[in-house]
Amino acid sequence: MIAEAALECVPEEIAGQPAVTGHARKLGRKPAETLLDRSYHHAAMKRLPDAHKRGRPDIVHFSLMEALSTPLFTQGHLKVYVHTYGDRIITVADNLRLPKSYFRFEGLMQSLFRDGAVKSDEGTVLMEMEKEKGTLADLISEVAPGKVVGLSSAGVESTAEQVARKNADSMFIVGGFPKGHFSDATKTLFNCTYSIESTGLEAHVVIARVLYECEKARRAA
Ligand SMILES: C[S@@+](CC[C@H](N)C(=O)[O-])C[C@H]1O[C@@H](n2cnc3c(N)ncnc32)[C@H](O)[C@@H]1O
Repeated sequence: MIAEAALECVPEEIAGQPAVTGHARKLGRKPAETLLDRSYHHAAMKRLPDAHKRGRPDIVHFSLMEALSTPLFTQGHLKVYVHTYGDRIITVADNLRLPKSYFRFEGLMQSLFRDGAVKSDEGTVLMEMEKEKGTLADLISEVAPGKVVGLSSAGVESTAEQVARKNADSMFIVGGFPKGHFSDATKTLFNCTYSIESTGLEAHVVIARVLYECEKARRAA
């Protein structure tokens, strides 16, 4: 699970800002149908709450690319969800192959926010987003994992290997934001929280390390 991901459409309060309308025009979309992206909206974002945790859809692209390219996922042993800053829950289909091009990914995400689902040419649902805002707590109750394991530089010192070995059948939660820490609401859902390195890492690196150790632990079991 990628949680509190910095993935959302441009919020209403900055939709009229010149940087936002200019970028939307280039994409041929309404401002509210474009993704909030610090690369284009840096100045306009200053007035947003939690600005340091928002506007980085590329983190979700990198993180999903990492998770969905693993044998664990391609062989059907990993279920992937994205929870966004705005409390939307995205369910990723088991067979999803994500576009490697960021621009195609951006288009896909814009369609997902607009339509609530992305389908293949054959009509199979590839990604789905709840129509209503959902909570992470509701998703966890529905999935009912053995444990909910938070990964954070502020967690108990461990290694990716130990975390994977001790927590089979768990839901691993990695933050999909660039700076800061999980909100208190998210932290209360964790049964335990581990740090796998003495420094802060990028989300995709944490995902790569933990999933590789999960693969090894699975083979050894
Ligand atoms: C760029 S970091 C967010 C910044 C945050 N200050 C941090 O270091 O955790 C993105 C995510 O990667 C994971 N992460 C980063 N460093 C980690 C570490 N040393 N151990 C475990 N997870 C880590 C966390 O889930 C974090 O939310």
